[in-house]
Amino acid sequence: MSAATKKYKRVTTNSLIEMKHNGEKISMLTAYDYTMAKIVDAAGVDAILVGDSASNVMAGHETTLPITLDQMIYHASSVVRASSRSLVVVDLPFGSYQSDPKTALRSAIRIMKESGAHAIKLEGGLEIKQSVKKILKAGIPVMGHLGLTPQSIYKFGTYTVRAKEEAEAKKLLEDAKLLEKLGCFSIVLEKVPAKLAAKVAEEISIPVIGIGAGAGVDGQVLVTHDMVGMTHEFHPRFLRRYLNLYEDMSNAFKQYSEDVKSKDFPNDTEQY
Ligand code: KIV
Repeated sequence: MSAATKKYKRVTTNSLIEMKHNGEKISMLTAYDYTMAKIVDAAGVDAILVGDSASNVMAGHETTLPITLDQMIYHASSVVRASSRSLVVVDLPFGSYQSDPKTALRSAIRIMKESGAHAIKLEGGLEIKQSVKKILKAGIPVMGHLGLTPQSIYKFGTYTVRAKEEAEAKKLLEDAKLLEKLGCFSIVLEKVPAKLAAKVAEEISIPVIGIGAGAGVDGQVLVTHDMVGMTHEFHPRFLRRYLNLYEDMSNAFKQYSEDVKSKDFPNDTEQY
């Protein structure tokens, strides 16, 4: 753990803002269960995102749309029990906030109350302004999410880089400024050109955490199962794989199966 990392006994939303102002980059990873979150937290990662990517990673759905609020609360409460230092941010799932601000607030309150998480994240800018305002007014910290917002995949039609065209880039910058003005404590920027992401980070005072948004932002987030190589079909350019767990685990499972069949396992010392 670096000296800067040790400084924070418990990372809060204010710590992230302080890190940006001190020029210290913010690290964030996803987790959806107790065991993984325990490792991420103990490693000194600043924030844990209980992302709706659980829909893909944990449940095997093609998109993030099917995961429910109850399922997100289940994942989030497991992660909260494991975290003693990291800030825990939870995604509001698709359908739990888009219809109206009252529904959005009710969903955010359920997440905070039933999981014990520290903040929520939702996707969008101007379209969800009233919901963001209402949630913030209730004292719930909000992280925004702009650029490639996977809950809108059927509108985009593709997972390619967003905001390459001037009009979309302009709207993205306006949305980031709006989220800052409303009182969000941070914004995730997903899969946008590095130059645009750096401009957003420079023009707003709250931390911008990127995934596929280049090095000019205030922090980085990755899906843990991707960065440890448990998933192996997914090769976006932005992903750095730190381990190849798919292969390691697969070899271990094969070996175990062979050992059972050959009666090598359990041996004399592995029984009572
Ligand atoms: O759900 C998720 O994991 C996310 C990240 C990709 C930022 O929103």
